[in-house]
Formats: sequence, structure tokens, C-alpha cells
Amino acid sequence: MAESKVKTIGVLTSGGDAPGMNAAIRAVVRRGLSSGMRVKGILKGYQGLLNEEIIDMTAKDVSDTIERGGTILYTARCAEMRSAEGQERAAEICRKHGIEGLVVIGGDGSFAGAQTLANLGINTIGIPGTIDLDIACTEYTIGFDTAVNTAMEAIDKVRDTSTSHERCSIIEVMGRGAGYLALWCGIANGAEDVLIREKYDFDEQRIVNNIIQSRKAGKKHHIIINAESVGHSEAMAKRIEAATGVETRATILGHMQRGGNPTCKDRVYASMMGAMAVDLLCQGKTCRVVGYRDGNFVDFDINEALAMKKNVGDYMWEVCNSLSHNYSKHTEEEFY
Ligand code: F6P
Repeated sequence: MAESKVKTIGVLTSGGDAPGMNAAIRAVVRRGLSSGMRVKGILKGYQGLLNEEIIDMTAKDVSDTIERGGTILYTARCAEMRSAEGQERAAEICRKHGIEGLVVIGGDGSFAGAQTLANLGINTIGIPGTIDLDIACTEYTIGFDTAVNTAMEAIDKVRDTSTSHERCSIIEVMGRGAGYLALWCGIANGAEDVLIREKYDFDEQRIVNNIIQSRKAGKKHHIIINAESVGHSEAMAKRIEAATGVETRATILGHMQRGGNPTCKDRVYASMMGAMAVDLLCQGKTCRVVGYRDGNFVDFDINEALAMKKNVGDYMWEVCNSLSHNYSKHTEEEFY
């Protein structure tokens, strides 16, 4: 590990929390200390920075944290950081506390703050932390793996009771504007229908027909995974029950998807990204975001990363549909 010219760094978590953030914080703190830096924890995201809620961090402060969900630094969404005045004040506070380098763990909104701080002379590195997997420059974001496993297990449970009562279940998963959580659960839970904003044509009659047909063929349940970007699951359940005569319930999984102990993947990848963020600061880099692509941990210019676009893969979507009961080209007999 090289000795760093940057002597003091800060670390903050911003936006929605995600399981694995603590592993990233731990890596930043310990890698930073090992590189001869002082490390400061900034509480409650950019809001805490503006309120100067800044603490010195030791290696011991991050003991027994890698296995915990949430973020030990707390998090917040901060409107003030969107204004030029707020951004300048944030840079000023960093300078006042001797923070030459800042690691920001969060989503695209948090990176926009990091980008402006970089323009104002603070070396910044972003780490993608969101359960939504909606950051274009990276195939992995901290928390997605844990959240998708949490949602998958919950949906398995709903499916048990749905089958016992011969019901249709609409299960709404998080993801903000993106359908990754819904699509992955669609495949992992063997859902009959998956509704994501990127692909759904709002043809509810097709879903109604699917349910009626599969009932006729003897199917005992019908699982619909609905992305929160499509939403309105309760109203949809009422309409579907009225149109099909099949009892239908909506379950909104909500914030339980954001909690819980991180999976091994989230602990390891978050640790790698935390360490890499410190290494980039040691090398004098700024305005970079860490990502994971094609099996490697890589980094991009934040401006370029924010300009990148990402969408759910057509092939994955096609496979999801081809494996569900409704869209299969197989004969009904093969399924029962
Ligand atoms: O970005 C993470 C996320 O959990 C989204 O999936 C969801 O839309 C949003 O945050 C919920 O935000 P809040 O916790 O502020 O209600």
C-alpha cells in the first residue's frame, strides 16, 4: 500500500440505505488508516456534512459492523445540497475540517453532489450503494443482492398461502424507476406475470385472460410481481378479482427489502469497492466512481458515469417470460 499525499479523508452514506454499506465504510476506514490517513465519518449524509456532524474514526469503531444491515453513519436525502450555496458551504466545511478526500456511498443523486464538490476542489470518489441496481456504469450496486434475496424469500412465503387459498397474488417490490428487483424476482420466484415500467404495456386484459386460462387448466395460484414504478397494486388487485372471479390479494413488501444482514456477495464487493475508493484517493484521483464490470472492479469519471444509460436486458426479459406459465410455447399438459 502506497503512502498517500492526501492526509485526511471523510466518508458518508447518502440517499436510501442499503445492506453492505457498513462493509464499505469499514473498508474505507481500515484501508485509509493503513495508508497513513486520518479518517472522519460524516453522519447523516450531506445534511450531516452541512451540520458539521463529523467524527474521527478508528479501526475499532468499525468492529462488528460488516454483518449489520443499515448504515452506522446514518443517511439522509438533502435538498440543500442541490443549491450552489449549499454545495459551496459543503466544500468550505470539508476544508475547515481538513477533509481533502471524500468517499460518497450512495446513488446517482449522491454522485451529483460528489461531482460538484470535486469541481470545488475536494477530491471525491463515489461508491454505488442502492438496492435498485439502477446505476448505469456498474453491473453491481451495494445492497441489491441482499434485497433481491430478501424479496425472493418473502415472495416464496406469499406463494405458500396463495396456493393454499387458490388465490392470485400481486406482490409489489421496490426499485424506484427501475425494474431490476422485479425482473430478478420474476425469474427466481417463477412468477406468472412480471410488470415493470420499462416493458409493461398496461394491457390488464391480457393478465386477466392468463389467470382465467390457467385456472381452467388447474393452476392453483397466480403470482404477479409488480414493480413500484408501475404501482397501484391494491387497486389492480380489486380490478383483477372483479374481472376473473379469482380472490386476489396485494402485498407491498416495502422497506423490509432494505434491511437485514448483507449477503456474502454484498459484504465482499462492498469491501472491495471501499478499499478501491481509498486507493484512488491515494493515487491523487478525484471525480471518480467505482464500478464492477465484466468481472473486474473499475473506475469511471463521475461526469461520464452520470451520462451513461442502462436498461433491463431484452434477453433477460425474454427468458423471464418464456419460463413463465403464460407465455410458454409448451402444451398445457407438460405443465401439470
Ligand atoms: O432507492 C432505494 C429505495 O428503496 C427505492 O427502491 C424506493 O423507491 C425509495 O428508496 C424509497 O425511499 P424512502 O425510503 O425515502 O421512502
